[in-house]
Amino acid sequence: MILFYFLSSILIVSFPTEAEYIGHNCSTLAGHSTSTFKSNLNQLLSTLSSNSNRSDTAGFYNATVGTAYGFFLCRRDVSARVCEECVANASSESLLRCPDNQQSVVWYDHCMLRYSNQPFYSEAATSPSMIGWRERNLTEYAEEQAELYVALVTSLNNLVSKAVEASDKFATEEGTITAKQMSFGVYSLGQ
Ligand SMILES: *[C@@H]1O[C@H](CO)[C@@H](O)[C@H](O)[C@H]1NC(C)=O
Ligand SMILES: *[C@@H]1O[C@H](CO)[C@@H](O)[C@H](O)[C@H]1NC(C)=O
Ligand SMILES: *[C@@H]1O[C@H](CO)[C@@H](O)[C@H](O)[C@H]1NC(C)=O
Ligand SMILES: *[C@@H]1O[C@H](CO)[C@@H](O)[C@H](O)[C@H]1NC(C)=O
Ligand SMILES: *[C@@H]1O[C@H](CO)[C@@H](O)[C@H](O)[C@H]1NC(C)=O
Repeated sequence: MILFYFLSSILIVSFPTEAEYIGHNCSTLAGHSTSTFKSNLNQLLSTLSSNSNRSDTAGFYNATVGTAYGFFLCRRDVSARVCEECVANASSESLLRCPDNQQSVVWYDHCMLRYSNQPFYSEAATSPSMIGWRERNLTEYAEEQAELYVALVTSLNNLVSKAVEASDKFATEEGTITAKQMSFGVYSLGQ
């Protein structure tokens, strides 16, 4: 079983969501000649891109070209058209961000794209990973920090159980945090 843990938007208060680049993680793996890998990789990325607008793949597709292994995963709640655009963006972005690297993961708001010169299908993995946040001080809620943390973790734990149990491994969760007579929505999505 392939297990993706793809927490895409964990928002406290509401920030505008944009179809945009979130982050990447590159690393070099020893092994194959760079020129062979590069040409396999170019073909792999084009294969992935040309299969990203299919309605029959549920936003997931994996492919192998020589020693280039890769897949994309689109968020379950986006259209095939958005998926296509996102995978195209992620393909060019991964080559720009990781020019000399043989393993790369690029995350967008609407999709992720991963490739490597080693097979990684059907392996549960917690790396490569990325941690991101938006800069916003919540210093006025410093006293409630522990309480907020518990509410957030509870909400995420519910999300994980729901996503694991769902037949399509996709779930969303909405929670509420109350502090200083204010209510905050906590919206999370897991796939
Ligand atoms: C999907 O993309 C391929 C290649 O870019 C194109 O030939 C095909 O017409 C597209 N299909 C749809 C349904 O947009
Ligand atoms: C896709 O991944 C599966 C394992 O999850 C593997 O058996 C299959 O060969 C892969 N397909 C391609 C085209 O790489
Ligand atoms: C793709 O990139 C373009 C140009 O940077 C941007 O306007 C668009 O929103 C991106 N689309 C997705 C789905 O990421
Ligand atoms: C990339 O992934 C590795 C392995 O999970 C992790 O140790 C490293 O911190 C990640 N780098 C970034 C910039 O997130
Ligand atoms: C957050 O608060 C600290 C300390 O008051 C301050 O130095 C920092 O610039 C603030 N950051 C933002 C993003 O407002």
